[in-house]
Amino acid sequence: MDALHIGLLGCGVVGGGLLSLLQENGEVLTRRLGQPLQVRRVLVRNLRRQRNLPLPPGVLTTDFEEVLADPRISIVVELMGGTEVARKYALRALRAGKHLVTANKALLALHATELLAEAEARHCMVGFEASVGGGIPILEALATLLAANRIESLHGIINGTTNYILGRMAHDHLPYAAALAAAQGLGYAEPDPTLDVDGTDSAHKIAILARLAFGVDIDFKEISVQGITEVGPDDLRVAARFGYALKLLASATYAEEQLHLSVRPALVPQTAALARIEGPYNAVQIIGNFCGPQLFVGQGAGPRATASAVACDILAIGARLMELAEYPSRRWLGAGAVQQTLARAQAKVSVAPRGAQRGRYLLLVPSGDPPGSAGTAAAGRRFEAGVAEILSRHGIAAPHTEWVAAAAAGEWCYALETEPVVERQVWAGLDALATLESVKAAAKAYRIEPLAVSQTKGSPP
Ligand SMILES: NC(=O)c1ccc[n+]([C@@H]2O[C@H](COP(=O)([O-])OP(=O)(O)OC[C@H]3O[C@@H](n4cnc5c(N)ncnc54)[C@H](OP(=O)(O)O)[C@@H]3O)[C@@H](O)[C@H]2O)c1
Repeated sequence: MDALHIGLLGCGVVGGGLLSLLQENGEVLTRRLGQPLQVRRVLVRNLRRQRNLPLPPGVLTTDFEEVLADPRISIVVELMGGTEVARKYALRALRAGKHLVTANKALLALHATELLAEAEARHCMVGFEASVGGGIPILEALATLLAANRIESLHGIINGTTNYILGRMAHDHLPYAAALAAAQGLGYAEPDPTLDVDGTDSAHKIAILARLAFGVDIDFKEISVQGITEVGPDDLRVAARFGYALKLLASATYAEEQLHLSVRPALVPQTAALARIEGPYNAVQIIGNFCGPQLFVGQGAGPRATASAVACDILAIGARLMELAEYPSRRWLGAGAVQQTLARAQAKVSVAPRGAQRGRYLLLVPSGDPPGSAGTAAAGRRFEAGVAEILSRHGIAAPHTEWVAAAAAGEWCYALETEPVVERQVWAGLDALATLESVKAAAKAYRIEPLAVSQTKGSPP
């Protein structure tokens, strides 16, 4: 082989980052690979778009068939996003015997089984390190460097957009809409931020992480997903009063013979490492039964960090292709560890139904009755008694309570930290609290994640 030829599908944020990396680090890559990397074709939607990128003339195309038909292209790099066209092109590339690198978490969360079966049938390699955590080498770590462990839990802040928004709400007391606008102004949030703020993006990523960590073929619909759009600045303040930071946490936990999968705004102790992950940074904490707690932190998105992961996948596939070229009698060296681990995932453990997880919760009950001032103390006490009676009827014990003044003058929040309880009971308790006359708005509950080594019953898979 004179060079490793690649075809790029998409040349936006990540595609542009990859082209810059190939130019800036071209020498390093050639040295590591033993041959140069060459981009033969770049598929885009709009040929007229201005692109300040190091692109050789004539490589841009709007016709996928040109990428597919080029016999010198051995690796197709999918950086378009979306699921429908990306799935179609990825499958066609694999069927044509081309290896695949992708940063597309949605594609993998929804279609990994189909894509990897096709890849195996065609003896093709698939790299997707960039799909979770940008530049953080988390997938390779799970599939190889921690593979001797039974994973007990995995908690991640894996969406930088929402982490930035929650940070601005917590530190600058901004309402959600203003924090979102600030994120959009800085390019941390898309003009349409739905997939980030409603938790879908984190859910795509936890589907991939959990599949690798627990060997389970996850049905994306089994993940309980809640975004951050309902979080208010008062919630973050009350959480801080109780010693917690509020984060959009993607979690996969093995407890009582079941796998619990969720994405939700949750509370972590302010002393925990995850509480200190700020701005667009990502972090994943993994607890393995022998390695103990391990924390991976880094730039979870952006053109350079993501391009780093994409380029490393290209290098890994390129190195194996070189090996194959040296030993022509071998038709196939087998897939890399990450691809194999994901492909072999099977439904070995049951995924817990929504609401089945036990844990402690912080309940926020908005009230207009201030607690201690003269004349209203009695009303405050009646309110507390009413709340306690309802919670106790639902089997919820909440020994730690506090009144916290809301940002709006004259409004208060009665906050209660519960003992461990099954989530479903909390939901029922919240519904019942709505019947209390002096409750000003819907009560909220945030799960508290201790982020300590768990005492699971039974062995994780
Ligand atoms: N942005 C990040 O920081 C980041 C981080 C990790 C993973 N990812 C993932 O990486 C992928 C790409 O993200 P991105 O932010 O680079 O997206 P982007 O900036 O929107 O770029 C998408 C590129 O794909 C091209 N494209 C889209 N649909 C196409 C179609 N049907 N036919 C031909 N070309 C098409 C676009 O062409 P035009 O230029 O002509 O419009 C554009 O060049 C996504 O799967 C994303 O989830 C992104």
